[in-house]
Parts: sequence; C-alpha cells; structure tokens
Amino acid sequence: LFFYIPSFFSQKYPPVKFLSEKDRKRILITGGAGFVGSHLTDKLMMDGHEVTVVDNFFTGRKRNVEHWIGHENFELINHDVVEPLYIEVDQIYHLASPASPPNYMYNPIKTLKTNTIGTLNMLGLAKRVGARLLLASTSEVYGDPEVHPQNEEYWGHVNPIGPRACYDEGKRVAETMCYAYMKQEGVEVRVARIFNTFGSRMHMNDGRVVSNFILQALQGEPLTVYGTGSQTRAFQYVSDLVNGLVLLMNSNISSPVNLGNPEEHTILEFARLIKSLVVSQSQIQFLSEAQDDPQRRRPDIRKARMMLGWEPVVPLEEGLNKTIQYFSRELEHQANNQYIPKPKAARMKKGRPRHN
Ligand SMILES: NC(=O)c1ccc[n+]([C@@H]2O[C@H](COP(=O)([O-])OP(=O)(O)OC[C@H]3O[C@@H](n4cnc5c(N)ncnc54)[C@H](O)[C@@H]3O)[C@@H](O)[C@H]2O)c1
Ligand SMILES: *[C@@H]1O[C@H](CO)[C@@H](O)[C@H](O)[C@H]1NC(C)=O
Ligand SMILES: *[C@@H]1O[C@H](CO)[C@@H](O)[C@H](O)[C@H]1NC(C)=O
Repeated sequence: LFFYIPSFFSQKYPPVKFLSEKDRKRILITGGAGFVGSHLTDKLMMDGHEVTVVDNFFTGRKRNVEHWIGHENFELINHDVVEPLYIEVDQIYHLASPASPPNYMYNPIKTLKTNTIGTLNMLGLAKRVGARLLLASTSEVYGDPEVHPQNEEYWGHVNPIGPRACYDEGKRVAETMCYAYMKQEGVEVRVARIFNTFGSRMHMNDGRVVSNFILQALQGEPLTVYGTGSQTRAFQYVSDLVNGLVLLMNSNISSPVNLGNPEEHTILEFARLIKSLVVSQSQIQFLSEAQDDPQRRRPDIRKARMMLGWEPVVPLEEGLNKTIQYFSRELEHQANNQYIPKPKAARMKKGRPRHN
C-alpha cells in the first residue's frame, strides 16, 4: 500500500509542462490570489515555470490557488506590497491592487498606498535583481474619455479629486513610476491597460453588469436595467486577458498596450442572453435612466493586434456559460455556509444608480 502513495499524490495537481533550466523562469505574481492573478498563476504553472504568489488577501483568497499549494514549482507568500520584498525572480507581474469600485473606494488611502508605495517597492525589486516588470494598469487611466474608442495615445480625462481618483490616479502614477525606472535605472517594463474582464473567480458582488445579472438570474430576482438598456459595454473573458499579459511580458514593447474586447453589446442584450443561458424565470425590470451612464465603452486594440498578434477569441456565450457555472457553484457553497450575497445596486454616481 505504501508503494502507491507517491503516485497518488503526484496526481493531485493539474499537469504541468517540463521546462529545461534555461527556459524555466522564476516568476513573481503580486495579487496572484485574486481573480486575474489566479488564472495567470494557472497558465504560468502549467507552462512549467516557478511561480511565487504574493498577496495580502484583501480581495483575493487562498481558495483561488489552493490547487497548487505544496507543488514544488509553487510558493504562496502572505505579504503586503506596501512593505519591501526581497526575493530572487526573473519576471514580475504586478497585479496587486483592489480593482472594482466598491473594493477600491472601501479604503482610498490604502488603495493609494498599494498603487504608489507598492509599485515603487516592486520596481525597486526589479531593479535589484534585474527582473522585468509588467504593470496591470487599467482603462480607467483614460478617465471619463472624450474620444471613442480609446487608443494608447489618448492622455485621459481624470478628475484628480473625484471618488475614483484613488484608483485612477494611483494607476496613472504607477505608470509614471514604471517609465521613470526605465529611463533612470534601465529597468525593463511592460504596461498593460486592462479593460473590463469577466470569468470564474471574479467577485460576485462587485456591482458590475455581468455579475449583477448572473446573480439576479440565478436567484430568480428581476434583472435590473437602467433606462432603455441601449447603452453598450464590452467585456473580455479572463483567459484572453491572461494570454495577452503573457504575450506582452515576453514581447519587446515597453510602451502601454490596451488589452480588452472591442465587441460591444447593449445592456439589454446582456440581460436577455444571461437570462436565457441561466434558463431563469426572472423578469427584466426597467428602472429610470441613470445620469452620467456612459453610452459606450470600447477599447481600441489595434496596437495589440499589430504588435502582439493578440486578440480576444473566446465567444461571449462560452465565457458566460463558464462564469454562470462558477457563480452557481459559489452560491451553493455559500448557502452551505449560511451566507448568500445579494447583488449590490448599481454603482452610485452623483446620487443616481448607473451601469458599471
Ligand atoms: N478585472 C478587471 O476588469 C480589471 C480591469 C482593469 C484593471 N485590472 C487590474 O488587474 C489587477 C487584478 O485585478 P482583479 O480583477 O484580479 O482584482 P482582484 O481584487 O481579484 O485581485 C487583486 C489582488 O491583489 C491583492 N492585493 C490588493 N492589495 C494588496 C497589497 N497591498 N499587497 C498585496 N496584495 C494586494 C488582493 O488581495 C487580490 O488578490 C489589478 O491591478 C486591477 O487594477 C482589472
Ligand atoms: C521587436 O521585435 C520584433 C520581432 O521580434 C522586431 O522586428 C522589432 O524590430 C523589435 N523592436 C524593437 C523596438 O526592438
Ligand atoms: C451555453 O449553455 C447553454 C445552456 O446551458 C447551451 O444551450 C449552449 O449551447 C452553451 N453555449 C456554449 C457556447 O457553450
């Protein structure tokens, strides 16, 4: 019996590729226990690299990466990036930062510290050990844009003292820091401007359209649409984003690159599609039109297409099915723990609800 135990244990991890010493990299992922970071962890682990996840578990959870704990190529460190970190790595994916409005507005000072001091610490580490750093920036650096769609040349339109400034300005200065370290210290940097992303392990009550509608449909509650529902949104599936991040990291493009899905759908299309995929009895409920609800949000990804050969490939319906499956398992799991999250009302801006 003893003889069989090793082979039993060797099967408990997802299969990983074997990489020679030369091709195998030591990779740090800050925020690696979060939504995007945990999928990136999966990809880099399965590609055969050594992955160290650093996370303070503010919005991330151990459960997102638990399937790797104990693997010889994997390490999980409970650490806050606001404190310096000394490890030896070849590449740093710097994702640590709360990402959705309720999360980054919960403690704006901490959001600022994470994006400023945290980014300085990671750039300092990159400089010391000669690692390349990729910053997970955001489309929010464009603020409330005056041009559509936004390309990387656009400088943005951000209110420096508004409620979202802790995040928007935090990411803007994080980008500035990357280029200061590049010019002054020769650190190799990559900057991904990430647009709306969805998929399994996303936060269920982050107040965004996709998560709201899926939760409402699964719980038999009305899907709430503000106005006529003709406003459009564009979402990329998380596996597309992760492929883009890895391509960008290993490219020679040091200037910012948009990563997002330019395929627009109206809010009403999202509501109808999600309702039909969940096979839900929920009604679609129209509420009064929201003030400042942007009519369109769409990335310009010509640069990523041309220079990385990257574009999103996962069809919306396929991504939604996977996300619905995840949400419904989560609801079961949480029901067993006596906690059922209700979707939050759409984000408030100037006192009126709107779609995120
Ligand atoms: N999800 C999106 O649609 C989206 C869009 C644009 C940009 N981004 C960026 O991508 C990155 C990942 O976002 P996500 O959606 O996976 O969010 P997430 O909240 O799931 O992940 C962020 C992770 O960072 C960790 N973290 C936060 N502060 C930290 C600190 N001080 N020290 C260490 N760890 C810390 C959190 O615990 C969490 O695990 C973020 O930088 C975000 O700004 C995401
Ligand atoms: C980047 O790499 C491509 C092909 O790999 C090459 O053609 C191009 O000149 C490189 N650009 C820079 C800025 O090094
Ligand atoms: C998504 O799920 C629905 C309902 O379960 C199914 O009919 C459909 O074929 C699925 N689509 C994809 C692309 O997986």
